[in-house]
Amino acid sequence: MVIELRAPGVSATPDLALRPWHDDDLGALLDAYRDPVLRRWTRVPVTSPAEGRRWLRRARQDWDEGRRFSFAVLEEQAEGPRLVANVVLKGITPQRPVPEVGYWTASWARGRGVAPRAVTALSRWAFDRLPQVTRLDLLHQVDNVASCRVAQKCGYAFQEVLPARPPFPLDGHRHTLDVG
Ligand SMILES: CC(C)(COP(=O)(O)OP(=O)(O)OC[C@H]1O[C@@H](n2cnc3c(N)ncnc32)[C@H](O)[C@@H]1OP(=O)(O)O)[C@@H](O)C(=O)NCCC(=O)NCCS
Repeated sequence: MVIELRAPGVSATPDLALRPWHDDDLGALLDAYRDPVLRRWTRVPVTSPAEGRRWLRRARQDWDEGRRFSFAVLEEQAEGPRLVANVVLKGITPQRPVPEVGYWTASWARGRGVAPRAVTALSRWAFDRLPQVTRLDLLHQVDNVASCRVAQKCGYAFQEVLPARPPFPLDGHRHTLDVG
């Protein structure tokens, strides 16, 4: 698929490239999912090559069906591009006018503003690509402070506390970003 978004680096950090996931991202996907923090905040388990291949197949099918757009986020490094994050636009149905963004950053790339830059690029792409979409949601559990910071850095305004929804046991925050 020939879609690629760019997110500029900040100070000493390299630029990011966002593109649909490829089959040969399997190794990096499995490495990222070895992190218990990432596993805690994601719904679909990826603990084996079979689960990783299923995850990648699902990501490709969802792209093809226009239901959900997952981007691998790569950082240019001396040895070549390295996977650093995943960002996703989901919940795209006629019944639901406000899609949602989701994200994780691999443990080896946290604390360098990767998620805020990638989510900002994704949000712009969503408003450009889906003219009917004028607002995006971002949800996180109340105690996910790092995720709340990502929302703030991307300009997603806090809207409300949501009741807990399985599999997450605590209440959540809903933040939104409006087009424009
Ligand atoms: C939330 C998450 C995506 C943030 O990604 P990131 O690329 O590290 O984003 P930032 O660099 O902007 O850091 C955001 C916050 O993470 C925390 N943080 C900073 N360095 C960190 C590090 N090395 N390790 C973990 N968290 C760190 C800080 O609270 C930071 O906020 P600050 O900049 O105000 O200090 C990342 O922590 C993650 O993948 N967590 C697990 C999955 C998850 O929670 N996804 C969101 C579900 S709603």
